[in-house]
Amino acid sequence: MKPVLSVEIAGVKFNNPIMTASGCSGYGEELADIYPLSILGALVTKTITPEPREGHPPPRTAETDSGMLNAIGLANVGIERFVSEKIPFLKKQTTKIIVNVGGKTIKEYVELCARLNDQDCIDMIELNLGCPNVSEGGMQFGSDPKMTERVLKEAIAVCSIPIIAKLTPNVTDVRVTARAAEQGGASALSLINTLVGMSVDHETWQSRLTFNRGGLSGPAVKPVALAQVDAVYSAVKIPIIGIGGISNYADVIEFLLVGATAVQIGTALFVEPDAPILIMRELSAYMKRKKISHVTDMIGKIRKF
Ligand SMILES: Cc1cc2nc3c(=O)[nH]c(=O)nc-3n(C[C@H](O)[C@H](O)[C@H](O)COP(=O)(O)O)c2cc1C
Repeated sequence: MKPVLSVEIAGVKFNNPIMTASGCSGYGEELADIYPLSILGALVTKTITPEPREGHPPPRTAETDSGMLNAIGLANVGIERFVSEKIPFLKKQTTKIIVNVGGKTIKEYVELCARLNDQDCIDMIELNLGCPNVSEGGMQFGSDPKMTERVLKEAIAVCSIPIIAKLTPNVTDVRVTARAAEQGGASALSLINTLVGMSVDHETWQSRLTFNRGGLSGPAVKPVALAQVDAVYSAVKIPIIGIGGISNYADVIEFLLVGATAVQIGTALFVEPDAPILIMRELSAYMKRKKISHVTDMIGKIRKF
């Protein structure tokens, strides 16, 4: 019997639980040169902002032990070029499309959602409430529960596309912002975004990133991400999309067991762009070996001491 990998979030049916993470495959065009995007559960775009952004000058990435630091600074084409230049490509894709957006103010988030609401190829919108690499907006929203609730309420009022709140891990208790997002009407939560970090060259005494601080991602953050998904799973009723250091099928299973319905793969795509294909194959083989008929049978089934 072929294991069933499909999952459903807010009425949207995904062929499998494997999504790309925002910022790690642009708007999908480069990935589509390697394999058909239809093999993915969903493609998540780079964060789109109202105006185009150049981002920070290089160096804006640095390698760390078991991970990477980035301070890209939300470089993106801006909403108008996204609609005119990227949407036509996304419209041709048969995979689910999740557009990630970010703003400096609540008004900016709301305007972005209203603009995207006109586009018929978007299955979900993900609000980036936790980018640590910009001076304004981003993390201010994600670390303030009142702002989190308000931005969701106001976005939902202008947009009928289901909204995912992407949470920052850079808070004392992620359950507080998770509950605020649920209260605001989020259809789902995704976590984690990157952890604030820094890297210094001891020979030159030079900071390795022009922005000095950056966001840590990759295998180094997986234990933090698992703990936060586990905490949020018992605090809210809406589905969770797990993110953080996933690079193989075993990582995916760990996230499902602590309560994720689906997962996103970020940094691993830079190492191995076809990681999702390998992960899917091995996930199916694991389920056959363990006689698990549906991937959803694993959600939240961790055996705790
Ligand atoms: C180079 C890079 C750029 C990123 N850009 C974004 C972004 O634009 N918006 C966003 O919400 N998250 C962004 N992220 C965060 C990822 O989507 C993801 O939440 C994080 O990297 C943890 O997952 P990972 O360990 O699998 O990479 C970025 C991450 C990296 C490494």
